[in-house]
Amino acid sequence: MSFRFLDLHHQRDDLRTDVLAGLAAHPKSIPPKYFYDESGCQLFEAICRQPEYTLTRTEHALMASRMPGIAAAIGAVDCVIEPGAGDCGKVRMLLDALRPSQLVVLDIAGRALAAAAEPLAHDYPALAVTAIGMDFIHDLEAALPYVSAGRRLIYYPGSSIGNFSPDEAAALLKRFHQLAGSSGQLLIGFDLKKDPEHLHRAYNDAAGMTAAFNLNLLFRLNRELDADFDPTLFRHYAFYNPWHSRIEMHLVSLAEQTVTVANQRVHFDLGETLHTENSCKFRCDEFSAIAGRAGWHLAGEWERDGFAVQLHGVGVNL
Ligand code: AVJ
Repeated sequence: MSFRFLDLHHQRDDLRTDVLAGLAAHPKSIPPKYFYDESGCQLFEAICRQPEYTLTRTEHALMASRMPGIAAAIGAVDCVIEPGAGDCGKVRMLLDALRPSQLVVLDIAGRALAAAAEPLAHDYPALAVTAIGMDFIHDLEAALPYVSAGRRLIYYPGSSIGNFSPDEAAALLKRFHQLAGSSGQLLIGFDLKKDPEHLHRAYNDAAGMTAAFNLNLLFRLNRELDADFDPTLFRHYAFYNPWHSRIEMHLVSLAEQTVTVANQRVHFDLGETLHTENSCKFRCDEFSAIAGRAGWHLAGEWERDGFAVQLHGVGVNL
């Protein structure tokens, strides 16, 4: 049994700096990585169980049904690296199929990650598990010293990549490419363009889990940045923007109001929005073009019910 947890955080300063910069911008915005405090992680897991939010279940069904072909396409792997691993629920299927010797999971929610990753070390006694609490969007390179040599597979499931614009996604995939090394591969899952009605329902679930997830950000800012947001004066607003092929989530101010955040006064007009998330939807060919700009070459593709998984490789192994 081998498990280690490293906390590479200097997160509180980043939260303050990023939030104040986002609130000073026009339109106002906050990076979606800040959703994931303790309750944010739990609310996200609750979203994934809602009947309207099919993304997670569809990806699971795709992986379960196509795993033999996916594993054969990947071949031998020494180390699996999963950025944004969250509850570590997705990687087990891959571990069963690939039997790597090392697993490195990264997440901004370090404590939740450590709790989720430790059982993996028990269940896979031959696997060296390293969990790193870190902001990998900001500083992926900090993980490099903890990744063993050999063939690396970066696993980025769940359409997490949808949080980034195409340009930002290409930049992140380029850094994945550097971390993966010259014999590296990337297995990535992303949500496909589909009927906007379906998407609208997925981000406006009847039980209100997505709304609670979005509004939880205000509770977090109240707690961690000494802010005085009144969450009843903001409403969850999520819609599909067809020009950018993305769901946008906002918090709309229901009044003209002034809020204090980290000793700064922030004014909201009635109806003004705080943009909290983009969730981009792709076509397969669009996505492989984005990955291509980051130096990746498409090596396999699997699709099911509006969700896709692509395998990419670099260099001589293809
Ligand atoms: C974790 C970014 C893939 O965009 O669908 C779910 C987050 N936000 N419902 C997504 C989310 C609102 C999710 N990702």
